[in-house]
Amino acid sequence: EGNLTVQELADRLGVESSEIIKSLFFKGIIATVTQTLDLHTIETVSEEFGVPVLQDDIEAAAKKTVEMIEESDMAHLIRRPPVVTVMGHVDHGKTSLLDAIRKTRVAAGEAGGITQHIGAYQVDVPHGDEHRKITFLDTPGHEAFTAMRARGTKVTDVAVLVVAADDGVRPQTLEAISHARAAEVPIVVAINKIDKEGAQPDRVKQELSGLDLVAEDWGGNTVMVPVSAIKGENIDKLLEMILLVTEVEDLQANPDRMARGTVIEAHLDKAKGPVATLLIQNGTLKAGDVLAAGPILGKVRAMVDDTGKRVKQAGPSSAVEALGFSEVPTAGDEFEVYTDEKSARAVVGDRATEARATRLAQQMASRRVSLASMS
Ligand code: GTP
Ligand code: MG
Repeated sequence: EGNLTVQELADRLGVESSEIIKSLFFKGIIATVTQTLDLHTIETVSEEFGVPVLQDDIEAAAKKTVEMIEESDMAHLIRRPPVVTVMGHVDHGKTSLLDAIRKTRVAAGEAGGITQHIGAYQVDVPHGDEHRKITFLDTPGHEAFTAMRARGTKVTDVAVLVVAADDGVRPQTLEAISHARAAEVPIVVAINKIDKEGAQPDRVKQELSGLDLVAEDWGGNTVMVPVSAIKGENIDKLLEMILLVTEVEDLQANPDRMARGTVIEAHLDKAKGPVATLLIQNGTLKAGDVLAAGPILGKVRAMVDDTGKRVKQAGPSSAVEALGFSEVPTAGDEFEVYTDEKSARAVVGDRATEARATRLAQQMASRRVSLASMS
């Protein structure tokens, strides 16, 4: 997963490796100098030693994407819809923008049926002579990216960065940019609230160029679309641009195999039991499938799509809400379908043992800490 050993991290941080080992121990990780650390651990330890972001290392590790597409898929690949996350500073209009997109593009024929049931939805966009789908993830952008970085998986294909034209670049704008960059996801900028008095889209462009995001009409290569979520202005243009940007990414998947993907969110419903929103990144998920989501076993009892309709199967880049897990899975964990329950059980068993060992080590470490602080 990660790309630094304890010794290498110590060198980077300019501390003794024993310091790192000690810090890890108090986190419940018993490590040797040659041990490779995962991304999350590298980040946490670095922060502790006053080096908040090791951008290069994180970028390098993020490149080691867990491959959702395998050799055996090659002959069956078809185009899949892009998966998009909307990010940006608080109140800059992320939710309004998603609402506007939904209003303009969700099944025009389905009057009134535009309730959003799950944290993801697909829209249909005219593109040349055909229609293309785009999947939007409606989870808080940073969570999706954090999960993605921690696991080395790539959940989204494009980040839409919303910047309010009357407010400009703010702290969470910077955070969003750094998340998207670490994950090597292209950024499309939506300069929002252009209807507002005091809107200064050019000032936003200028601030962004200071961060190496230069608009195309200013000679750079970042797509920036001025929009008004409230007035529904330029929303189609934004969608078209998202398609253009993802076209070069050549996004593909094999629908003719067992599904794998990522848990986007999950909760316990009093009546239904554990409920999980699953993003299918490769293959097709079918009702009755047996799967492992991290250390949790599941057998898909029922699935609903983004319009709340019950479905029997779901293909690449679509998201469904699924019932039938033994416990609530963890958002950010990957899932994969197995041919039979026995194989899934074996995988889940191994993972559960691993998780238990980590928990135990953590408990031991925290007991040490409390004993140490008492003496
Ligand atoms: P958080 O989820 O809290 O981070 O906010 P957000 O980014 O989702 O912003 P939200 O969509 O909730 O919008 C914040 C405020 O800005 C609301 O009062 C919106 O009505 C307003 N707003 C959003 N887009 C526009 C726009 O295009 N024009 C104008 N005039 N107001 C907008
Ligand atoms: Mg919001």
